[in-house]
Amino acid sequence: MSDSVDGTAFRNQTVGIIGGGVMGCDLAYDAARHGGRVILVDLSDELLEAARRRITTTARMVRLTGGPPPHPATDELDSAIRLTTDLGDLGDATVVIENIIENIAAKRELYAGLGETVADVELFGVDSSCIPVSTLAELLPHPEVVAGMHLFNPVPLTRLVEIVRGRLTSNETLDRARAFASFLGKRSVVVNDGPGYAGNRVLMLTINEAVRAVDDGIASPADLDTIFRDGFSHRMGPLATADLIGLDTILASLEVLLECTGDPRFEPSPTLRRMVADGRLGRKTGRGFFPYGGR
Ligand SMILES: NC(=O)c1ccc[n+]([C@@H]2O[C@H](COP(=O)([O-])OP(=O)(O)OC[C@H]3O[C@@H](n4cnc5c(N)ncnc54)[C@H](O)[C@@H]3O)[C@@H](O)[C@H]2O)c1
Repeated sequence: MSDSVDGTAFRNQTVGIIGGGVMGCDLAYDAARHGGRVILVDLSDELLEAARRRITTTARMVRLTGGPPPHPATDELDSAIRLTTDLGDLGDATVVIENIIENIAAKRELYAGLGETVADVELFGVDSSCIPVSTLAELLPHPEVVAGMHLFNPVPLTRLVEIVRGRLTSNETLDRARAFASFLGKRSVVVNDGPGYAGNRVLMLTINEAVRAVDDGIASPADLDTIFRDGFSHRMGPLATADLIGLDTILASLEVLLECTGDPRFEPSPTLRRMVADGRLGRKTGRGFFPYGGR
């Protein structure tokens, strides 16, 4: 269900996506199946090949699990999504959504180098978990077209975008951001800027505390998640949610929240750090708090 906002203006427009990981690939698929012409940028040909495989897997998963239509054929998707390592190819894009890793220094370096490449873009969306949008917007030539576009995972199956109003975001940009969410078949809420925005400020603290409760021997991961599912009637428990998001992204988000707020409640639990160091990142590596067979 999308808002009553009209998103049809984005059909056949060029949508630039920077970063072809978990979020960038799902967004590329979602934008392409709704009629966008997508240009997806990542750092190497190998990463782009992996992105193409991930997009094909996502398309199959959405079809097989009865996810919402449209379900375009693989060759239609392939021709609607162009992969490149050259940021200069974003010149034709009306909308650019940035989805690179959750790291302030990496994002700042990227934004500082974008300059004229995105000077004509009408909407520049920052898809970050926690990094304040305003600190990145000021590095671009037109900060008024920058808004946070916090998407939820998995993008094709989730129905909401948390739109973040940066200090300099114009009202026209917020209207465009809501229209773009509607184009993707999603509703939106608009929140003000701040570390973690509204959703992740609360979620990251909950996940961190859930890991600490397991560490303290209060409950097993399975029992802790059962309390949230069957007791609080949440669709997923915090640890399964962490596995879905990716433990590396959770750790990075907590580090950003700690860096931006200085609040020790955001100090990542040692277990989380150890799991990330061991490559136990959740669904994307087949093992996190729980084991996974496929992707
Ligand atoms: N995973 C989630 O559930 C989720 C949900 C909402 C928002 N986010 C946010 O979305 C962003 C991406 O998260 P993700 O889970 O897709 O991460 P990811 O690690 O899966 O993917 C990041 C991708 O960005 C690429 N990249 C890094 N630097 C780049 C650069 N300079 N230019 C182009 N590509 C570059 C990497 O090669 C990688 O493919 C993060 O800011 C994250 O916090 C993630």
